[in-house]
Amino acid sequence: MESIQYYQGKLLAIETSCDDTCAAILDGNRVLSNIISSQADLHKKWGGVVPEMAAREHLCMLLPVIEEALELSNTTLNSISAIAVTNRPGLVGSLNIGLTAAKSLSLSLNKPFIGVHHHEGHILSTLAQISDEYSPPKFPHICLVASGGHTELVLVHKPGKYEVLGSTLDDAAGEALDKAARLLQLKYPSGKSLQDAACKGNPSRYKLPIAKLKDPYNFSFSGLKTAVLRLVESEGEQLSIPDAAASIQETVAKTLLSKITLCLKNFNIHTVSIVGGVAANIRLREMLTNYSKDHNINVSIPSPSLCTDNAAMIGIAGSIRLAQDQKNSFNEDVYSSAPLDS
Ligand code: KG4
Ligand code: ZN
Repeated sequence: MESIQYYQGKLLAIETSCDDTCAAILDGNRVLSNIISSQADLHKKWGGVVPEMAAREHLCMLLPVIEEALELSNTTLNSISAIAVTNRPGLVGSLNIGLTAAKSLSLSLNKPFIGVHHHEGHILSTLAQISDEYSPPKFPHICLVASGGHTELVLVHKPGKYEVLGSTLDDAAGEALDKAARLLQLKYPSGKSLQDAACKGNPSRYKLPIAKLKDPYNFSFSGLKTAVLRLVESEGEQLSIPDAAASIQETVAKTLLSKITLCLKNFNIHTVSIVGGVAANIRLREMLTNYSKDHNINVSIPSPSLCTDNAAMIGIAGSIRLAQDQKNSFNEDVYSSAPLDS
């Protein structure tokens, strides 16, 4: 495959699609700074993201976060050559803050901007170089995008050419983990709390279901959620939280791994990546790494800071598109949902 072309010059990337205010500075695919201001504390008392509050917090935090990203990378605003910003899919109020900032900077600096699909950002996060240890995936490869809002298996032919092989019919993997963690009364943000609780637990203590579906590349996690609810009700005080957390984590990781391996076999592909917040999960990373060693598969998993939402990945996706002379005009909008190929 031909080598990937990145935009020449320093790029500012912005991500505000949900509850993290993020800015990054990139030079090619090198990440010079990657700042994330989490809103977890703000939303934790509600047990989930409150969209109106998320948008207001982005409004307060985005410019300070951009300033910090510039400072940390020793970059001045005037030396920025282009701007990449998430404009789909996500919470409309939150996306709006990022896009408005990007348009304003683009107008005042007289530099191009590009709107980026959040999932394309996740898929290409494996190309972001944050240290000398760097193992980007070969193309084509199978990519599992597993986040709080989406779970998709994608055949990535090359940057910009994606074939969605399967997706969830109900809850996303992260959403299932979050809901299960809430039933166990673990603290928000839930995926990480569940992982922490699972460390001390026995993953085979509680038997939980893995959905069998007509289309084997699709996912369904609603049955798991119901099973966890029943488990909590039936065990009552007797329930071991570490064992339950470990059993849930194991079931989700096994489900994800089984679909990935099926795709690898059926498409005869030898490279795989996992991206998105759930790819930060230690057990899933371990299971996929072990599988890849046993089956001679190349595996690319971004560092945890590139798995959960961040602007560096948006910068990578934007940089590749800008290098192909793509850019947006000032009438560009935000979209709550959007197919990957939009
Ligand atoms: O990609 P992401 O940061 O935001 C979305 O685009 O949704 O993913 C967030 C999801 C949440 O459901 C969160 O619980 C999950 O990723 N997550 C984890 C871990 N860290 C974040 N799930 C399992 N283990 C983790 N360590
Ligand atoms: Zn995400």
